[in-house]
Amino acid sequence: MPETRPVPVTVPSLAARKRRSGAEPIVMVTAYDAPGARVADAAGVDVILVGDSVANNVLGYEDTLQVTVDDMVHHTAAVARARPGALVVADLPWLSYHLDAADTVRNAARLVRAGAQAVKLEGGRVRVPMIEALVSAEIPVMGHLGLTPQSVHAMGGYRVQGTSHGAAEGLVADAKAIVSAGCFALVVEGVPGPLGDRVTETVDVPVIGIGAGPGCDGQVLVFHDVLGLGDRTPPRFVRRYADLGDEAVAALSRFAADVRAGSFPDDSETYH
Ligand code: KIV
Repeated sequence: MPETRPVPVTVPSLAARKRRSGAEPIVMVTAYDAPGARVADAAGVDVILVGDSVANNVLGYEDTLQVTVDDMVHHTAAVARARPGALVVADLPWLSYHLDAADTVRNAARLVRAGAQAVKLEGGRVRVPMIEALVSAEIPVMGHLGLTPQSVHAMGGYRVQGTSHGAAEGLVADAKAIVSAGCFALVVEGVPGPLGDRVTETVDVPVIGIGAGPGCDGQVLVFHDVLGLGDRTPPRFVRRYADLGDEAVAALSRFAADVRAGSFPDDSETYH
């Protein structure tokens, strides 16, 4: 695969990437294993997110609530073994940062020891003590606001957030609070474009959108959605760039046909 990145992406270099200061938009994609990380890195993405969406995309779960810290350590280590030049950010899974600050730091430290350079967590003002504890333990934190999949039951489903005046104001207040607590970047998911713009204008750290319109400082998508490897109908904000799922089925069907016809392996594929 081609070498595309002369300098590795770091937390400080990413934290400085505001479009209003002339920076290029940030590109972030999920990856859950070493081959995925190699593909993402060769494509020159800035950030690889070891997302807890590993639940739906790899582990066959219905939602992200099933993922454990052990699962995230396993997948983060696999991504890190690819030694990407992209920044590796790992999701803290549900209930790994909700109980107390000490528990949060211990769980995040496991992800750092597995190879994450930063962790991501979902939620607003209520997470401030946990974010402060992580930052004092030298663990960089990316926030995640808006449609936060770990709150699926509290939200009553995967619904666009911040659609009322009050909810939009609450989301902007959350963004300010978690940035003051020390987040070096934010993901904002599933909000109307104008609210994505407003959060991006309000905070001094980069805002990476997913279903938050084109005005953010960067965009993130799920690997399996971009490449057409998923089995779900993707949400409206996904743009699919390949149909690798269909190509994989076609390739394996040709392999099966060759085996059944006795034409695989041939002489050149046989040791003599
Ligand atoms: O886990 C995930 O996939 C995410 C998204 C922001 C892409 O958190």
